[in-house]
Amino acid sequence: MNAFTGITVDREALIANYATVAERVAPSGVIAVVKANGYGHGAVDAARAFVDAGAEWLGVADLDEGIALRQAGIDEGVRILAWLHAPDEDFRRAARYDVTPAVSSVDQLAAAADAEVPVVHLCVDTGLSRNGAVESEWAELFATAGRIARGGGRTRVEGLMSHLSNASRADDLDQDAAFQRALDGLAANGVVPEVVHLAASAASIAVPETRRDAARVGLALYGLSPFADRSSADLGLRPAMRVTASVLRTVPVRAGEGVSYGYTWRAEHDTRLAVIGLGYADGFDRASGGHVTVRIGDRRFPVVGRVAMNAMHIDVGDADVQVGDEVVLWGDPADGDPAIEEWADAIGTINYEVAARVGRSVERRTT
Ligand SMILES: Cc1ncc(COP(=O)(O)O)c(C=O)c1O
Repeated sequence: MNAFTGITVDREALIANYATVAERVAPSGVIAVVKANGYGHGAVDAARAFVDAGAEWLGVADLDEGIALRQAGIDEGVRILAWLHAPDEDFRRAARYDVTPAVSSVDQLAAAADAEVPVVHLCVDTGLSRNGAVESEWAELFATAGRIARGGGRTRVEGLMSHLSNASRADDLDQDAAFQRALDGLAANGVVPEVVHLAASAASIAVPETRRDAARVGLALYGLSPFADRSSADLGLRPAMRVTASVLRTVPVRAGEGVSYGYTWRAEHDTRLAVIGLGYADGFDRASGGHVTVRIGDRRFPVVGRVAMNAMHIDVGDADVQVGDEVVLWGDPADGDPAIEEWADAIGTINYEVAARVGRSVERRTT
């Protein structure tokens, strides 16, 4: 029988990770971040798992992602927060689908109020220099928020957020201090938000001072570590994503023969290659070959040569590897599978990017 080619997401692991994170950050709450297709895990299934685990809040990048969750049946008992908006965003969509926008400017706040969005959060920049109003814009933003609060309109400012750079503990605490200035500035305008949130995975674990009312946690909920020097297991987390492929064919090569585009790898001795049908079009980096190993049965074998658009090669030597056998690219190291971090290290990036990049072309099953 042919092995499954695609991503298997372990729902129980998502639920267990949520419980672990929720317990760790309590009494702060958790906003479960499911942007970027749930970090590659499938946004809807991941959201359902977190909601079943007790999540009352979901976080996404933009309104499109939030609306997609509503359309998939994530019901209105669950709050959805979206923080990145197009310059011409029509906030009536937020009101219609009950997605709470975090607004970053006076213009966005005014547009949300005009659209009669019932609840907004304000997003301030405290050092990331991404979205969020910068400190020189706070006075006008907070004064506008105060006017809206006093004006008796439909829109209520419920929350204040910022996002950390994770540069160092000292930098995070500097950002936390800036965040407190923002809270004080808002309070001076008569607005005291009920839901104040700053930390994401890394700071919610390593800088507890930044937890505030809720931590917006993504990576850790998927069972991955945001730290280079601490593994998932060290944090009590279970990687939920397992990527497998079926061996499509095996190809004999002779000593000295080059393999795949550009012959970046040549066989040192006569050997056999297993070919699988995943490549860079599916999000597996072209440069991974030569730097990662995969699991077949109980053994590890190297990926060799350049990863192609839809395929890659594995040097299986004289092992008894047959068409249809299962190849595990990564999964939970606690089960003996390669770690996603091996793929990240291979190309000088982080687990976040490797998970999020696995394309929508790859089938996902949640079990
Ligand atoms: C604004 C915001 N909050 C929270 C998160 C979740 O971060 P993490 O996956 O590190 O928990 C992200 C992800 O980058 C984000 O952009």
